Amino acid sequence: MLDERLDDEPGGGRRDVGTCPVKHFTVFDDVAAGHYWAATGELREETPAFFNDHAQGYWVVTRHDAVKDLYQRTDLFSSESFTAWEPNPPYRFVPTQIDPPEHIKYRQLLNPKFSPGAVGRAEGPAREIAERLISQIAPSGRCDFVADFAIRFPTEVFLTVIGLPPADADLLVPWVEDFFLGLNGAEDKVGGMVAALEGIRGYFVDLLAQRRETPADPETDLIQHLLESEVDGEPLSDTVLLDMCTVLVLAGLDTTRGQLGYLFQFLAERPDVRQQIVDDPSLIPACVEESLRLHSITIADARKATKDAEFHGCPVRAGDMVMGLVAAANRDPRHYESPDEFRLDRKGNHHFGFAGGPHRCLGAHLARREMIVAVEAWHAAIPHYEIDEGAELRERGGQLTLISLPLHWTPAEGDEP
Ligand code: HEM
Repeated sequence: MLDERLDDEPGGGRRDVGTCPVKHFTVFDDVAAGHYWAATGELREETPAFFNDHAQGYWVVTRHDAVKDLYQRTDLFSSESFTAWEPNPPYRFVPTQIDPPEHIKYRQLLNPKFSPGAVGRAEGPAREIAERLISQIAPSGRCDFVADFAIRFPTEVFLTVIGLPPADADLLVPWVEDFFLGLNGAEDKVGGMVAALEGIRGYFVDLLAQRRETPADPETDLIQHLLESEVDGEPLSDTVLLDMCTVLVLAGLDTTRGQLGYLFQFLAERPDVRQQIVDDPSLIPACVEESLRLHSITIADARKATKDAEFHGCPVRAGDMVMGLVAAANRDPRHYESPDEFRLDRKGNHHFGFAGGPHRCLGAHLARREMIVAVEAWHAAIPHYEIDEGAELRERGGQLTLISLPLHWTPAEGDEP
């Protein structure tokens, strides 16, 4: 059977897939929460690599060592596309789709704004935002954690960090929602995605015009900082400026919402772990880190091959897309002891929750800090809570997020509405 495994060649024709099994795997459906972690785990144990007959056809590697190489082998792979089923995307995100050596020139402009020091300075405002949102939610004794907190909180913090009014979250939240609904490929949602991209771009077009007319302090205002930045001695073009601002919105908000949702689902279902972090809040950073590994919101990431090569058993040719199952790699028993267990005492927890290689998440320090602050502030106000009885939790595919997380608790005395 193996030697007959021929499949449609990307772009038509037939191609030899070597000894790679051929499978059909997609990540787009809304399904019961936890489905994609189980499905990718099964694929990882079945085979280290396969050829996916979805879309134009692409390779999929399933294990930790191969996903690491996919991220690190920039001699072999380009980030020109990071979406396996879209080898020639119509958009260009900066720095996401820029390859080394150019990539670092753009990262260097952004890195100082998202460094541990900058994030440390954002901690106070982030805590204020968390406490304000939680104080609005707590008296009612119930909420949809995803809609009422998990998306609102990172959006307001992000706006504050880049020097914009947190109230603009009212604009950004619906755009982020519509963009990711459309990205999942549903045809009736594509119009909403395009409109959302236009909305986000228009928002930054207006801001650039305002800053040109009335400059702000580049120390605290990211737009002003970028306006005054140069690459190779030249100011950034408006196209690049808009590509950078758009990617920050799209990379930083839905991701943190997704991650917070799964962490709070886990804590709601595991009162033992919750009690441990309530009793000893110094365990919260380890709790967040283990959640980033175990509750991977990135099901898969992809790169485009720049040359022909044998890659972890796949006869890859230049132009092919290769997908790495990040969620499966983060639970690979070849790399982690008791990989499916949540362990607060896990040592050397190096995971791909924030990817790897040169495109490793720019916002990792900010995202971690946001999650730590959210867990601290929430549990100081609402230490005991449960998921509504009978609630069937569902997740959106693509970049994972719970669709809703209905929680309830007993409001503190004098706190009732
Ligand atoms: C828990 C939350 C987050 C997760 C799980 C996450 C995950 C990721 C992943 C997996 C990548 C790599 C994508 C690729 O190379 O294909 C990435 C890149 C990136 N992330 Fe995050 N992210 C999070 C939060 C944030 C935040 C808060 C920001 C900033 C506001 C941010 C900004 C970026 C940017 C700009 C990139 C592109 C970096 C580059 O190409 O050099 N992320 N993120």
